[in-house]
Amino acid sequence: SILIVDYGSQVTQLIARRIRETGVYCEIHPFQSAGAAMAAMQPKGVVLSGGPASTLDENAPTIDPAILDAGVPILGICYGQQALCQALGGKVEAGHHREFGRAEVKVEKTSALTNGVWDLCTEHQVWMSHGDRVVALPEGFEVVGTSPNAPFAMIANEARRIWAVQFHPEVVHTPDGAKLYANFVHQICGVASTWTMAAYRAKMIEKIREQVGTGKVICGLSGGVDSSVAAVLIHEAIGDQLTCIYVDHGLMRLNESEQVVTMFRDEYNIPLVHVDVSKVFLRELDGVSDPETKRKIIGRLFIETFEEEAKKLGGAEFLAQGTLYPDVIESVSFTGGPSVTIKSHHNVGGLPERMNMQLVEPLRELFKDEVRILGRELGLPESFIGRHPFPGPGLAIRCPGGITPEKLDILRQADAIYLDEIRKSGQYDKIWQAFAVLLPVQTVGVMGDGRTYEFVCALRAVTSVDGMTADFYQFDMNFLGKTATRIINEVRGINRVVYDVTSKPPGTIEWE
Ligand code: XMP
Repeated sequence: SILIVDYGSQVTQLIARRIRETGVYCEIHPFQSAGAAMAAMQPKGVVLSGGPASTLDENAPTIDPAILDAGVPILGICYGQQALCQALGGKVEAGHHREFGRAEVKVEKTSALTNGVWDLCTEHQVWMSHGDRVVALPEGFEVVGTSPNAPFAMIANEARRIWAVQFHPEVVHTPDGAKLYANFVHQICGVASTWTMAAYRAKMIEKIREQVGTGKVICGLSGGVDSSVAAVLIHEAIGDQLTCIYVDHGLMRLNESEQVVTMFRDEYNIPLVHVDVSKVFLRELDGVSDPETKRKIIGRLFIETFEEEAKKLGGAEFLAQGTLYPDVIESVSFTGGPSVTIKSHHNVGGLPERMNMQLVEPLRELFKDEVRILGRELGLPESFIGRHPFPGPGLAIRCPGGITPEKLDILRQADAIYLDEIRKSGQYDKIWQAFAVLLPVQTVGVMGDGRTYEFVCALRAVTSVDGMTADFYQFDMNFLGKTATRIINEVRGINRVVYDVTSKPPGTIEWE
């Protein structure tokens, strides 16, 4: 395996994904606990991430001696490069030459890192993002690549098996970056590609059996990819010791609940309790228009319903959850202070503690794209695996203002037409999320010879890699016009359609 030491870069997770894509297992650990991680993992190589600190600051994060002493290959990225130089006797200078964005690196010398990827004397696009830079190399190091603003863009001490770069090979703006990581893990560290989802499936099935024994497991389904893949995997391991609970809050899209229930019950033969509590949810949400209050009510009712159903099943020792690796990674904190809550996304946090059950979390080691591959491996349909994310509170936060059954019904129809048009035009997979929002605003229109006074529907579509930032999707105007016409013609209650051209930031993806 490979250890990634995190110095707080925004893109540390991308390093892990690039390495996993080469078929090699890796873990991210904060720099503070890197020594312990070295001992526990015994990695075949170490990557030091970038980060926001300056090595020149007092209390700047340093490199644990256990890493430098282990004799395994090291690759330093940006801050990682500067920290290496600082630790080994080189010199770093504060940023008079801040460099952000694309740059061209010229290969000055052959090295194991660029071997077979970049030829000598050629120039290649890379992504820079740094303030400080290295100005004098430690003994034993030599320059293997330069850029106009970074004379030490790539350095190496091949005898000590240390390589370091000023740029970020993990981002897409460094087009050959993935190949450099592949060189590092395969050629330099000598790790073979054994991390596959087929192997993971087999290993996890054994682990689940071992953990659960003859016990009973309950799994909450949400209709999303994570909980579904977790459920199918666990069922494969322990069969009917697993029961799924689907809390139907009545805030799902058109026909979605039926699809989930049919798929699990009829196609996978997984014992499933479908609790239709939509009336209770709608009653409690009646007259509520504040977004965070909606989330709190939905979260509370969800937990109460789930607990009640679990009790009816006679209890169980284990609770299954589709927790992913990004939720598990301990983050590096420099400020220590809490960040501002924009929205409370974790609507059902605290469930496991309340229920006093042991957790079964078979996806804890995986990134989202790996979960999708595992889902395919388990035979889940492509239409299901490629689905856009859907928020826990469902359509409640796509109906700004008060929620009524009539409004939800109108929204469902409009949303279904919009998604149908997106699918038919072959754009679904290019979009991170697309959905309709029913605005609490009525406008005047004319249809036939009559006046109409109906709701406005807003359409939203964004591209994103992780939901943290997003750009609005650039539809062709004809597509939007056609979709608007269909919605207005087919959905009673909507007489006007608008398209949201706000990116995130400053907007958020959902309207509430
Ligand atoms: P925002 O609107 O914050 O959304 O830009 C980012 C991503 O999170 C989803 N989202 C939620 N998911 N509970 C969830 O489970 C929530 O309350 C919630 N609010 C937003 C949103 O759909 C997008 O994918």
